[in-house]
Amino acid sequence: MTDSGTQLFEELDPQPRLLMGPGPVDVYPRVLRAMSTPLQGQFDPQFTEYMNQVQVLYRQVFETANHQTFLVNGTARAGIEACLTSIIEKGDTVLAPIYGRFGHLLKEIAMRAGANAVSIDTEWGQVFTAEQFEEAIAKHKPRLVAISHGDTSTTMKQPLAELSAICKQHDALLYIDATATLGGNALPVDELGLDMVSAGLQKCLSGPPGSSPITFSDAVAERLLKRKHTEAGIRSAEAEALEGDGPIIQSNYFDLPMLMDYWSPKRLNHHTESASMLYAARECARLLLEEGLTACQQRHQLTSKAMRAGLEAMGLELFGDPQNRMDNVTGIFIPEVCGDGAALRAQMLEDFGIEIGTSFGPLDGKIWRIGTMGYVCHKANVLRCLSALEMTLHRNGFKTPQGAGVDAAYQVYNNS
Ligand SMILES: Cc1ncc(COP(=O)(O)O)c(C=O)c1O
Repeated sequence: MTDSGTQLFEELDPQPRLLMGPGPVDVYPRVLRAMSTPLQGQFDPQFTEYMNQVQVLYRQVFETANHQTFLVNGTARAGIEACLTSIIEKGDTVLAPIYGRFGHLLKEIAMRAGANAVSIDTEWGQVFTAEQFEEAIAKHKPRLVAISHGDTSTTMKQPLAELSAICKQHDALLYIDATATLGGNALPVDELGLDMVSAGLQKCLSGPPGSSPITFSDAVAERLLKRKHTEAGIRSAEAEALEGDGPIIQSNYFDLPMLMDYWSPKRLNHHTESASMLYAARECARLLLEEGLTACQQRHQLTSKAMRAGLEAMGLELFGDPQNRMDNVTGIFIPEVCGDGAALRAQMLEDFGIEIGTSFGPLDGKIWRIGTMGYVCHKANVLRCLSALEMTLHRNGFKTPQGAGVDAAYQVYNNS
């Protein structure tokens, strides 16, 4: 806390930054403008119509016909907790395959929701094979498999088609955390047969953290309704008749059947919808769909390709399995001469206003992560980042051929 009382009353004046870490990233100006739109009451017909529009927009973003597609208020973790806490019943076996930090998170949330949470592991930087899934699912017979589509901590992306087929053969539900990938990487929910998916705004959708779009199938909704419970203070005779006989969902805030009622024409009150975040989420979806899902994914692919070519031409070594990288974040080994890389990151921020990240756990201080997502995912930012990195690497004792990174990135764009 500042000891200068006057600073407390100064207006916010953040330094301009270019956010090229693993997220959050710079927010689209249109999204920022949408967030300053005047608020309305949560039952105002115009506002509830905006809620309906958000559902229609996110069905397109998730490429799904799932009726149950809406926002959970809170960061991406709120969407994860809502899905897992609502679907998991005490004692259910849940398999959380761990290929980075977020697998651990899913396992922990499942465990806290009362599951018998089991996991399989693979080295950070790799993904799982279909055989590994088959073996683990046959052995543990989980009721639910919970996995991240992209684990931002390792920059790897897990292919989902085979996993989904295996889950179906073994009658296991499949929950996907798509926080890191939605918008920048293909995720056709219905085509892949995913049962429940949640995401966040602050990665490829380039919105602020604080809203979590989720979607789940009718079959999941049916199961959830067996646990339906309406708060006493708003329970009508009609609601009473619809009470489920399954175990009550432990969390009130993340009780999906209650959220389903709130997002239905009944508008049965639950929380107060976070209006400014709803405006943000709506604008994120509009921007993505205006550009086109495929065009946006291609922009992410091309930008990552240019960034990676530039980094390699500078003599840096890319991290992780080249076949299974996310299209929006790149990991590179920190050269030995740069130690844990913290000084370089601080200089990039202070001297060039560019934020890049390191990682967590075994990769903390071992790799840098550079994000090229959403609003940031453009040629000019690739060239700015590579130039700044070259200068900063030089200052930290790592010599790169002058201009090689920028030249290699240019070549990718010229050949595209
Ligand atoms: C793959 C993944 N899942 C979940 C989260 C948690 O998101 P949040 O910080 O918005 O709660 C993150 C955040 O980086 C993430 O990358």
